[in-house]
Amino acid sequence: MSEETSSRKLDHIRLTVERDVESRETTLLEYVRIVHNPLPEVDLEDVSLEKEFCGAKLGAPLMITGMTGGHPSTANINRVLGEVAESLRIAVGVGSQRAGIEDPGVEYTFRVMREAAPTAFVVANLGLPQLAKSYSLREARRAVEMISADALAIHLNVGQELYQAEGDREFSALSKILDIAESLGVPVIVKETGAGLSREAVRLLYRLGIRCFDVSGLGGTSWIKVEAARAGSPDYRPPGELADRWGNPTALAIIETRDAAPSSYIVGSGGVRTGLDAAKAIALGADIAGMARPVLQAVMRGGREAALRFLKNIIYNIKTIILMTGGRRPEDLWRAPITLWGRLRWEAEQRGIDVDSYLLRGRLARLLGVKN
Ligand SMILES: Cc1cc2nc3c(=O)[nH]c(=O)nc-3n(C[C@H](O)[C@H](O)[C@H](O)COP(=O)(O)O)c2cc1C
Repeated sequence: MSEETSSRKLDHIRLTVERDVESRETTLLEYVRIVHNPLPEVDLEDVSLEKEFCGAKLGAPLMITGMTGGHPSTANINRVLGEVAESLRIAVGVGSQRAGIEDPGVEYTFRVMREAAPTAFVVANLGLPQLAKSYSLREARRAVEMISADALAIHLNVGQELYQAEGDREFSALSKILDIAESLGVPVIVKETGAGLSREAVRLLYRLGIRCFDVSGLGGTSWIKVEAARAGSPDYRPPGELADRWGNPTALAIIETRDAAPSSYIVGSGGVRTGLDAAKAIALGADIAGMARPVLQAVMRGGREAALRFLKNIIYNIKTIILMTGGRRPEDLWRAPITLWGRLRWEAEQRGIDVDSYLLRGRLARLLGVKN
């Protein structure tokens, strides 16, 4: 079983790097404009990207979200991701630690990240299907201890499992998630994996005490598409249009999450590809932006140097955007005037969000101290 899990990890890396596995549907971030301030009265040296996130201080509002570990050849990727996160003081996650829990022989492929990133915010990772089946607080503690993690991400990946030929079919794990969040001792981040959190799910989780979310919306890596590309057997039932179109677009998922969980920490991710995307995700209400596939591609292309160059550029873009709105800190993007139109506005309204009041107050909820 664990060999199967770890070789699947290799397939995932190869496919996500080499093939077009992004959804045709977009993030809807193209329906957002951050208004340019031609008279900012701020110097570049006045802009600080430092950001408090889940009790830690990041050097920039950015996370490399969980991807890998479990197969010997993933150790080097996790080491490089750790080095990059340490040097930029950004958050970073390992991929699902199921392989490490089932086979202590591959634990090191996860631990290398912490060794390379002794002071960074490092996030452990387990999946909903494992909780639904058998995992509980014990495995969650092991995942955290394995890498001395600062938080545990629990990923929701129902679509991926349903279209993975050998995938899981059991998904009831809410009480386990809550148990773990209550007793683990580090924050639990509930994350999607590219199909986006929804207002209803976040509202439920928030009411029950979850305070950290990674929206991982539609518009970037599609896990239904990745699994469809892996499947070869004649009795596999392909996802068809679902591969490109199923999910809650990232821009909408951020608005819905902040609206449903006003004082939570939110990672805006899923199809974030540029500094402008990242700044828009934050301006819409996320605390920090998250990225997976493009960082992996940079690592595979040119190792640590390429990943550093890519992320430094994104960080510089975010910094210049903050300045060009007249701001000095990432949180100032929550106050920056933005416009929002077309399908994004229309869908947000249909989802019961008063867009104008959200833009004025809702996205600033953390700054305004809204607690409900
Ligand atoms: C190669 C690869 C492996 C991934 N494995 C995991 C995983 O094990 N656990 C998890 O929570 N998310 C996993 N993800 C999902 C990402 O964390 C992220 O939510 C998703 O890819 C959307 O972001 P993107 O469009 O920037 O890639 C993986 C992503 C990639 C590209």
